[in-house]
Amino acid sequence: MMDEISSHIMDIAANAITAKAKHIEISIMVDTKKSLTTLFFKDDGIGMNDEMVKKVQDPFFSTKTGKKVGLGIPLLKGTAETTGGTFSLTSELGKGVEIQASFRLNHPDLPPIGKLKDTILVLVVGNPEIDFAFRYAVDKSEFIFDTTIIKGLLDGVPVNHPEVVNFIMNYLDEHLQNQID
Ligand SMILES: Nc1ncnc2c1ncn2[C@@H]1O[C@H](COP(=O)(O)OP(=O)(O)OP(=O)(O)O)[C@@H](O)[C@H]1O
Ligand SMILES: [Mg+2]
Repeated sequence: MMDEISSHIMDIAANAITAKAKHIEISIMVDTKKSLTTLFFKDDGIGMNDEMVKKVQDPFFSTKTGKKVGLGIPLLKGTAETTGGTFSLTSELGKGVEIQASFRLNHPDLPPIGKLKDTILVLVVGNPEIDFAFRYAVDKSEFIFDTTIIKGLLDGVPVNHPEVVNFIMNYLDEHLQNQID
């Protein structure tokens, strides 16, 4: 079972990578007043048709194509709904996918956020050809990490160059970790 929000993020991002996305947006928004955390994903991969959109949200929904579907999406949906939150997935074939999932912060079954910093690092340096825009916001205070900006500053040096990996690691340590703690 996936018992950390970060694992869900990794899975949804992995789906987008498999779907040939070139730009992946991941936002985590914590609203302390509403006691709600909302995850938002957007990718520009191959997308899904309406039948797939239905099918991937229910692993037991069968279609004539017989294509096996996995559990990443149903697990995220299940976790969100278990905490009293919501889930939505919309897509257009050829355009990409948007997923929104919310979790109630005060629910006893809310999983911990987990290793968000490592998740971001692995995604970014493991997929240097993909652009990631991360946003982590707690109420009005937000942390933004956009690889298009970083890549612009790097002037051709790849994001998986050891010194760059080290820089990103320290940057996330300093700016994201204290946002979470
Ligand atoms: N972002 C996306 N773009 C296009 N298709 C997607 C996307 N995310 C999921 N899919 C499709 O939905 C299917 C189900 O996704 P899901 O994450 O639930 O399972 P999986 O990735 O197949 O397997 P698992 O996550 O269990 O390893 C995928 O196999 C893929 O065909
Ligand atoms: Mg998956």
